[in-house]
Amino acid sequence: MKIDLIISADDISEVKTKGKTVVVIDMLRATSVITTALNNGAKKVIPFLTVEEALEYSKDNRKNFILGGERRAVKIEGFDLSNSPLEYVKELVNDKVVIMTTSNGTRAIKGCENAKNLLIGAMINAKAIAKRIIELDNDVVFVNAGTQGQFSMDDFICAGYMIKLLEENDNVDLTDVAFTAKHIYESHEDIQSFIVNARHYNIIKSLGLEEDLGYCMKKDILDIVPFYENGEIII
Ligand code: MLT
Repeated sequence: MKIDLIISADDISEVKTKGKTVVVIDMLRATSVITTALNNGAKKVIPFLTVEEALEYSKDNRKNFILGGERRAVKIEGFDLSNSPLEYVKELVNDKVVIMTTSNGTRAIKGCENAKNLLIGAMINAKAIAKRIIELDNDVVFVNAGTQGQFSMDDFICAGYMIKLLEENDNVDLTDVAFTAKHIYESHEDIQSFIVNARHYNIIKSLGLEEDLGYCMKKDILDIVPFYENGEIII
């Protein structure tokens, strides 16, 4: 299995993702939110690029939807929830459709619609993702959402962890960037000692959201694989 990695939403290339198993990662925090919401019973998550599209889609049936997401890491005016995974509790999301727009995560997902299989990954479901990749038996591209089109250390080490899991269980052929992600993970298996230097980690910290950080850095606490199909994310 060939494994490649794209370092930010701005670097997504249709040629690279077409027909592949693609895993979109925005561990701080969009893909952790999506995974948590679905694990807590949300029927589906529908990602949108813009706030306007999300409001337009939900306007005729507003009560049936939970609107969630962020701009500049804070809740969007008129939305129900922010981009904190800890807000997506069963009591609020069970049996609900979550409409979501975030700065980088939902953009990265929408950019990979030509993948054969589009999986939504985070640290919290890394092992489940690795297992599904092996079952799918196709070449893989990890797409890091990054931050505002820039490389992001958190998504990179998260991909590195998944690549390490794949290497332990399958024959892998890594590009240099995929090898480097794995190498970074191997030198920082606790992950926090690396992520603590990331720009976005420190933005979330400065907003007093340390609990989000602690949660998103947990490994393998959820055994589900969200996947995107026909505009919706389901499990
Ligand atoms: C994003 O999609 O840009 C992020 O998840 C931002 C955030 O942490 O809220």
